[in-house]
Amino acid sequence: MVHRQQFTVPVSYDVVFTRDLFALTNLALANVLPQAGSPARMAVFIDSGVQQAWPGLAGKIAAWARAHNDAVILPEPPMVAPGGEQAKNDLLFVQRITHQLQRMQICRHSYVMAIGGGAMLDAVGLAAAVFHRGVRLIRVPTTVLAQADSGVGVKNSVNLDGVKNLIGTFAPPYAVLNDTLFLQTLDERDWRGGIAEALKVAAIKDASFLDELERLAGALVARDLDAMETVVKRCARLHLDHIATGGDPFETGLARPLDFGHWAAHKLESMTNFALRHGEAVAIGIALDVYCAARLKFITAGERDRICALLRRCGLQLWHPVLEKRSGSGALLVLNGLEEFRQHLGGRLTLTMPDGLGRKRDIHSLAPAIVADGIAWLAATHKQPLPASR
Ligand SMILES: NC(=O)c1ccc[n+]([C@@H]2O[C@H](COP(=O)([O-])OP(=O)(O)OC[C@H]3O[C@@H](n4cnc5c(N)ncnc54)[C@H](O)[C@@H]3O)[C@@H](O)[C@H]2O)c1
Ligand SMILES: [Zn+2]
Repeated sequence: MVHRQQFTVPVSYDVVFTRDLFALTNLALANVLPQAGSPARMAVFIDSGVQQAWPGLAGKIAAWARAHNDAVILPEPPMVAPGGEQAKNDLLFVQRITHQLQRMQICRHSYVMAIGGGAMLDAVGLAAAVFHRGVRLIRVPTTVLAQADSGVGVKNSVNLDGVKNLIGTFAPPYAVLNDTLFLQTLDERDWRGGIAEALKVAAIKDASFLDELERLAGALVARDLDAMETVVKRCARLHLDHIATGGDPFETGLARPLDFGHWAAHKLESMTNFALRHGEAVAIGIALDVYCAARLKFITAGERDRICALLRRCGLQLWHPVLEKRSGSGALLVLNGLEEFRQHLGGRLTLTMPDGLGRKRDIHSLAPAIVADGIAWLAATHKQPLPASR
């Protein structure tokens, strides 16, 4: 006998844009919680980098919770958790978070709030997804990259054995609250790095977004918050539309279009021991892939140059010396990124490339010689550092 078991689980979550989320008069958090019943028990974790930049935040959250005790109860004051890639490089971190959740008696009807960058959200997200087989996670992303991309999506992960995102789950959040004001305290590298992800999604999905990025590039490098908010909102929207309508929200197929530029980026991150931040590595990965796309005649040389020029105008460097690193046998080490990327998705290698700007196509092989030429091209055209004023 064969019985085909089949059911669907509807997924929906609110992604809210606001400013000053924990001002006493801001009801964004209360509004995403159930309006009836008892207040939500909530464990709150703050990224250590955010805590440093916003020392009053934990107190402000506690005051908000006291003022809105019909909506939220904090069993303990907000806790600080390590931020940055270090949070993803040690599984012990995930374990520690679960111990803390257990101590606070967080249950499947409680909430975990994670306030931080993409790395900390990924690690706390994994802990929340496996604790009691999954508790509700409210993400409060605090970097450009996390607000525009990672924080609004459905994934979490940590790294293992030097391989990015080797352990993780697909687990949609309960809600996402994007507070633009957090972006003010980002350091230069994180401010700019997030723009690479916006450019990535524009290059393969929305040519008019590329025009907008070109219009806003000057304001973005000048740290204009309104310009950045515009970019973050548009990028998040493209990302969310892709998850909702792309037909493969949990990435069971071969293609992962939003990982355009990422096969090299992930490798560069681990090759530099994470000295290159994710967004910085993505910028280089995009530059390398648009070179390949131009060689394969998917885009013109002019379009390739337009993308690279825009990345640089946004303050992103398109070169790192590890690109030229070779193994004992003389092979470029970055090429291992292709195989690692294939293994991560399984099956046949599938890379997304632009097909004209604003459209995409998949390819299933990439000749090492073309990548090597791409690296030589980047060395010849983009090795020079960005002007100091940037
Ligand atoms: N889950 C996904 O779908 C997905 C998608 C893309 C990227 N990612 C992951 O996201 C991570 C990168 O995230 P990121 O770019 O946000 O960097 P990050 O999380 O490493 O944060 C960068 C630094 O900024 C600090 N910080 C965070 N917010 C701050 C603020 N408002 N003010 C001052 N400092 C602040 C952090 O403590 C950290 O030191 C990578 O690990 C990447 O793999 C995940
Ligand atoms: Zn990315």
